[in-house]
Amino acid sequence: PTPRITIVGSINMDLVTTVTKFPKQGETVLGKEFHTSPGGKGANQAVAAARLGADVSIIGKVGHDAFGKELYLHLKKEGIQMDGVAREESVSTGIANIILYDGDNRIMVVPGANHAVTPDYVEQCKDKLLGSDMVLMQLEIPLETIKWCADFCYEHGIPYIINPAPAAEIPEAVWTKSLYITPNEEEAAQLFGINEDKYKSKLIKTLGSKGAQYKDKIIPGYQSKVVDTTGAGDTFNGALAFYVASGLEVENAIRRANIAASIAIERMGAQEGMPTYDEVKERLES
Ligand code: RIB
Ligand code: NA
Repeated sequence: PTPRITIVGSINMDLVTTVTKFPKQGETVLGKEFHTSPGGKGANQAVAAARLGADVSIIGKVGHDAFGKELYLHLKKEGIQMDGVAREESVSTGIANIILYDGDNRIMVVPGANHAVTPDYVEQCKDKLLGSDMVLMQLEIPLETIKWCADFCYEHGIPYIINPAPAAEIPEAVWTKSLYITPNEEEAAQLFGINEDKYKSKLIKTLGSKGAQYKDKIIPGYQSKVVDTTGAGDTFNGALAFYVASGLEVENAIRRANIAASIAIERMGAQEGMPTYDEVKERLES
């Protein structure tokens, strides 16, 4: 059966500038290129899971502006159920200012409407959570909402994966009630430091091109040609949720999630390169 996945998370428009040099304070440099493309960790993870074939809902908010409208239509076109997405009056849609420099990226996020994804709002959409096989969250919405969702899911026996990005202090219960926690190396060091072992059975640490670590095992990544790593972690998370909710054993799910991320980074933009089920299968078998 098709896994039902609900993402509670952010929706952003990415404003991407490619430069050959980062400006110093007070300095002006000429950029090379500019484009807008759909992003936000929540929306990215939703698209990753939907492309693979999951039945995906997103609970989130956009602002009352052109970006909000565009993102709403775009996500709908990706096959995502959008009835959990509301338009918030008098705030801007979340944006991310992304500077790409030689494959490296620096991101500044202005949450805007994502700030209005409150526990009360998510509670209004609780039927979506109740009808899910898996819930997936990140940290670009208010932390009290994350806490509320964690408690709600746990109470109702709905497994959730928490991707603690960007890293932030959250109540310990959010970790203990989760099925898996998926930080990258920096986030893991910042959040757990020497206490990583405490969450060993839940921790899936992404290691960039090296793959991901689960317990003491490194599941190697697939080496591909990097064009844009923005959203690589999101592709991993959306894919992980899909494969785990499909009933795959976790190591096999991680192997496929690594491959999904390796395909996504071969194209510009967070979402554009995200693969279908068959594309992952093909690379897995090659
Ligand atoms: O993880 C990548 C995402 O982080 C970007 O799409 C940007 O919107 C920020 O939220
Ligand atoms: Na990409």
